[in-house]
Amino acid sequence: MIIARQQDVTDAVLAAMAGAPGDRLRVVMAAFVRHLHEFAREVSLTEAEFEYAIDFLNRIGQASHDSHNEGVLFSDAVGLSTLVCLLNNGQDGATETAAALLGPFWRANAPRTENGGSIVRSATPGAPLFVDCRIRDASGQPLAGVRVDVWQASPEGMYENQDEAQAEMNLRGVFETDSDGRIAFRSVKPAGYPVPTHGPTGEMLRAQQRHPFRPAHLHVLAFKPGFKTLITQVFVDDDAHLESDVVFGVTRALIGDFRRGEGPAPAADVAGEWFSLAYTFVMEPGDAVLPQPPIK
Ligand code: BEZ
Ligand code: FE
Repeated sequence: MIIARQQDVTDAVLAAMAGAPGDRLRVVMAAFVRHLHEFAREVSLTEAEFEYAIDFLNRIGQASHDSHNEGVLFSDAVGLSTLVCLLNNGQDGATETAAALLGPFWRANAPRTENGGSIVRSATPGAPLFVDCRIRDASGQPLAGVRVDVWQASPEGMYENQDEAQAEMNLRGVFETDSDGRIAFRSVKPAGYPVPTHGPTGEMLRAQQRHPFRPAHLHVLAFKPGFKTLITQVFVDDDAHLESDVVFGVTRALIGDFRRGEGPAPAADVAGEWFSLAYTFVMEPGDAVLPQPPIK
């Protein structure tokens, strides 16, 4: 098609792509092009802005490597990760869900840990936390044999892969629910933290005068054949950034009851302040698919 005016470009591209094999590829790419072109028209995108956007995209790729995923971080910071999560959970977006975004810090192959064990693998100053989680199906039946990955930042707000002072796989572990659908472990109360801001995502946050903080949370990934893999986070209820999570992950259902311990702690070596968290997760029927780990 010979292009006579700006309106023709969209039709020409859609026609060029119309023969793509596979309905999904055709539908997704046609919608992508329509919305992309409409976006450029709506904001009257200038040539300088277009050049900046291409450079920004290239820099997202250049900033990504084995231990940092800038692409995930950018999708998180513009709310796309949370939107995709909510569209694909809670009966395909129809109802509330216990799911939340994965984030860029999940690592596969965390150490298998027995129930009642600890995920503190090197000296980690902070208040001890005793976690007791149950996993049920939609009818309330406990689910045994669920493989549960947990990971969190330290009380200083750093994941072990960001912090040379922490041992490999500190504050990460893989558990299996017992016959009551339960896992239990010892950790330390996580702190909120700023997401990495050294790359293009940080540039965007600064330009928009947004703070980079996530409220403190514990990540959970629950996997069992026959059930949709549940990827979620439980948030610390007194965190100052619950209402302004930089990646929009907080829903009411995910605010946990982090209780200050009263009386004797569950472990003899605990001297000062300690906390407990009890939380019940519900898994939906569906496909047990694991995501690609964002980092190695
Ligand atoms: C996280 O919770 O690990 C996370 C999520 C989005 C961006 C950065 C970190
Ligand atoms: Fe996190």
